[in-house]
Amino acid sequence: MSKIKLKFKKRTNESYIIYCEPNIVNSIPKYLHKHKFGKRYCVITDNKIQKIHGNNLQKLLKQNNISAEIISVAPGEDAKSLENIKKICEKLIKLGFNRNDCIIALGGGVIGDLAGFVAAIFMRGLAYIQIPTSLLAMVDSSVGGKTGINLEELKNILGAFKQPKAVFIDSLFLDTMPKAEIQNGLAECIKYGASLDKRFFKYLEKNIPLIYKPEKDSEYNYNQKVLNKIIEISIRLKSRVVQIDNKETGLRRVLNYGHTFGHAIEAASKHKIPHGHAISIGMCLINEKLVRDKILKNKDAQRIKQLLDNTGLPTSLPDNIKKSDLLTLMKSDKKNKNRGQINFVKIKKIGDFILE
Ligand SMILES: NC(=O)c1ccc[n+]([C@@H]2O[C@H](COP(=O)([O-])OP(=O)(O)OC[C@H]3O[C@@H](n4cnc5c(N)ncnc54)[C@H](O)[C@@H]3O)[C@@H](O)[C@H]2O)c1
Repeated sequence: MSKIKLKFKKRTNESYIIYCEPNIVNSIPKYLHKHKFGKRYCVITDNKIQKIHGNNLQKLLKQNNISAEIISVAPGEDAKSLENIKKICEKLIKLGFNRNDCIIALGGGVIGDLAGFVAAIFMRGLAYIQIPTSLLAMVDSSVGGKTGINLEELKNILGAFKQPKAVFIDSLFLDTMPKAEIQNGLAECIKYGASLDKRFFKYLEKNIPLIYKPEKDSEYNYNQKVLNKIIEISIRLKSRVVQIDNKETGLRRVLNYGHTFGHAIEAASKHKIPHGHAISIGMCLINEKLVRDKILKNKDAQRIKQLLDNTGLPTSLPDNIKKSDLLTLMKSDKKNKNRGQINFVKIKKIGDFILE
């Protein structure tokens, strides 16, 4: 098993371990007994994941004498709403939850953001742990303690930094994920390679085609060895950045490579384009600009585009979105340092970023 410890220098009480191993889910009761994150637990999940994994987890916890309730919401981006926050908090009150208890976020990035936000605000904060079930959540959203809630069209406009007590990453959950969702998560992994680590980028070029087994029923039959390595390296890369800059005041902004265009694309599509697809196009658009500005060599831009293409990700804007539509949206991006001035994360070659 690989254990990655996330240490925050001045806040030792916020440090936590990311456990990463196939089938780790069966050992979770052992860790909950050992660390006593809460007296009682409430699994927050979506209806789809509840059926395929949530009920089993609740059963497993109960069999091991761990008190576990379950609260479930409809799946999808719309779940990250204030209405759901209210409903979940009301249910927690009804169930008698308090600061001594612990929330378990079981699901993709949507559930991680929703449950993490509830954990940040319910009774001014209670403990939570992350059990990500989508690739995107495993390699990105479950690590680093950012939570986000949407206000109508405004994505992640509300949020809090709330570090989990632990993260359990079990790649076997991915056996129930459609290929399109795996591809969505791989966009973030390619982002790590392209901006932070050229060796990882090379590994992805060689190994992404090996994720999908060639057998007949291959949709849900992934190469666990490759997936595990990709997950582990991605988490190590993200952890390194987040440990240095927990609150995104400097270095952490590098994780937004491809995201300035990406967020604008998501907004222009009214969030119909999934996050991974949007940042895939976003990486290609910023690279085109960097090539024009003679910062990045065309050869490197083409290699990144090729890898995204080979992964099955989109690399250009759909016909119904124009580049000019993106400009206004990018000017109002909440991550801009000065109002109206667009901040892009740049790379000068594969694995080598520039922050301004
Ligand atoms: N907080 C952060 O740092 C951060 C970082 C990146 C993205 N995000 C957020 O993450 C969200 C996107 O996450 P996502 O792509 O995981 O989307 P998601 O949570 O909507 O999951 C995608 C779909 O896959 C399903 N699913 C999840 N795990 C499954 C499994 N094992 N088997 C079958 N189906 C499964 C879900 O029910 C959902 O229908 C966005 O809201 C984005 O803003 C947050």
